[in-house]
Amino acid sequence: MKDRIFYITTPIYYVNASPHIGHAYTTIVADVLARYHRLRGDKTFFLTGTDEHGDKIAEAAKKGGVTPKEYADGISAQFRSLWPELAVTNDRFIRTTDADHVATVRGILQKVYDSGDIYFGEYEGFYCVGCERFYMEKELLDGKCPQHETVPEHRKESNYFFRMGKYQEWLINHIETHPDFIRPERYKNEALAFLREPLEDLCISRPKSRLTWGIDLPFDENYVTYVWFDALINYLTGVGYPEGENFGTFWPVAQHLIAKDILKPHGIYWPTMLKAAGIEPYQHLNVHGYWNVDQSKMSKSLGNVVKPLDLKDKYGLDPFRYFLLRDMVFGLDSSFSEEAFVQRINSDLANDLGNLVSRTMQMAIKYGDGRVPTPDAAAFAEQALPEAAARALAEVESCFTTLALHKALIAIWEFINVTNKTIVEKEPWVLAKDPANKERLATILYHLLEALRVTAVLITPFMPGSAAKILAQLGIADPAGQTFETLRAWGGLPAGSALTKGETLFPRVEVKKEEDKPAAAAVAAKAEVPAIKPEIAYEDFQKIDLRVAKVLAAERVPKSSKLLKLSVEIDGERTVVAGMGKDYTPEEMVGKQIVVVANLKPAKLMGVESRGMLLATDTEEGLTLLGFDKPPKTGANIH
Ligand code: MSP
Repeated sequence: MKDRIFYITTPIYYVNASPHIGHAYTTIVADVLARYHRLRGDKTFFLTGTDEHGDKIAEAAKKGGVTPKEYADGISAQFRSLWPELAVTNDRFIRTTDADHVATVRGILQKVYDSGDIYFGEYEGFYCVGCERFYMEKELLDGKCPQHETVPEHRKESNYFFRMGKYQEWLINHIETHPDFIRPERYKNEALAFLREPLEDLCISRPKSRLTWGIDLPFDENYVTYVWFDALINYLTGVGYPEGENFGTFWPVAQHLIAKDILKPHGIYWPTMLKAAGIEPYQHLNVHGYWNVDQSKMSKSLGNVVKPLDLKDKYGLDPFRYFLLRDMVFGLDSSFSEEAFVQRINSDLANDLGNLVSRTMQMAIKYGDGRVPTPDAAAFAEQALPEAAARALAEVESCFTTLALHKALIAIWEFINVTNKTIVEKEPWVLAKDPANKERLATILYHLLEALRVTAVLITPFMPGSAAKILAQLGIADPAGQTFETLRAWGGLPAGSALTKGETLFPRVEVKKEEDKPAAAAVAAKAEVPAIKPEIAYEDFQKIDLRVAKVLAAERVPKSSKLLKLSVEIDGERTVVAGMGKDYTPEEMVGKQIVVVANLKPAKLMGVESRGMLLATDTEEGLTLLGFDKPPKTGANIH
């Protein structure tokens, strides 16, 4: 039963600053995971919230001239109200000032104190308020905190300590015997690297003479609890530790989601705290990278903080969610740029998915009676679409177990491309001309509509709003019934339901001319563009005769996986050999208008003479041909 229950948490965010794209990313990833598990029918709990105690908040409140609680109320409310706007479906929003949390923290402190793992002692060290933790001298870079690049305060005071060092060997063993405990691998290795050094005990209190904004220690009212010891426990309070029914259900499968900045508290402090309190460790710690902005770190002082609501308002919620998930490889850093975002909207969303939906709906309505047609099995012998759908489903499911969400989206887009190709190959508009093709046409349209349903279900965790809109166009008013189970067999779309053409799902974003440059630069920077070759004179360029050619026939060159032999029309027919065979089938090439260097000296490739060379470029998904926005005349000059 373990795998049918899912518990996911985000960090609880500090209330000293407003939410930005980094907070939005983690929370949206958690939401995508929660939605996916609900769609599979798993019992799911999703927790997020705010971290409100400690020096950092006390300082920010002081600057603002309000009490810490008033300050925390204001910013916590900003987080709380942001999440529904981003379609985030958390089951609880926890605050560390909530009464049940205060009680849980005190309960655990007492338990660990009673068992002898908390003691009183003297401490001296370097404290970074930004991180809310002590640093060892050797951890500092030029005497500064490596995260905040600020000089930490030197502090010496009497405090309570948690015997963290006692659990060092246990933790190393636990990480080594549970390879997925911290993932991806690089962060597991980072945690093990911390543990190669002797693990010091953790200072878990602050004297009230210096800080009062915290939870009182149950065994000494002159001290408040250290903010990390307080904050981490939210993951237990959230599911009702110790008595709540949810605790028993969800804790055994607890998964935390964080960025790399807070690996140490989650990977080291937290499991040892749990162990000392006699609670099983969490199941997985999932660690992602950092969003930078235009290659630099996001920071208030640089003025480059990206606000999630600004992007949502400008480009729409689903494109925003899609972009965040598609452009970050889970575990690695990614750089945000508005140009790259617009590119994704125009190519993946407007072009690939949006066009597919509108073309299919238009044809299905035009060539039918406004309802989902009944397919005729005999008229649709080939299996390309059902097979591609099964492949996409399997890939998406496997990616969800490893959190490779960008790969899940790539797999869904492969399916979208197969569907788009099916339209090109089957040419429903040609079939529609002859009434004898009625059944075949109805069948093809049914399969295309079913492909839209499959796509809608697959994108539901990522873009729930757009998925519901596609399903509504297919006559499915209630998306709740469209679980992943309905994708196991092809043909779940009920024939006869009413089709309605909706509005454009993803309007294209017009890029102003002067903005073209940065867009190209952003894409180029990502793809590691090769160096530009040395300059040539215009006269030299003029020597190259580029022409529009039409592919009349195509076949594979025997014994070559890459080469295609094309018969093309330019000024008459000629043969051109092209290395496109891995990315295009011969059938796909036929009928296309392409760009050919027409006056290249003939050359023999695997025994076939080629008179000219076609032009293509690389994409993440392989080669793509150069094309035209409007159909040109075959043989026309390209200048
Ligand atoms: N309050 C602590 C967490 C306590 S959890 C028991 C804290 N808060 S925070 O507000 O600083 O949030 C840190 C988290 O916000 C990161 O781990 C990550 O989830 C998210 N992000 C903040 N900036 C980010 C980026 N630039 N990029 C990606 N995510 C980042 O630490």
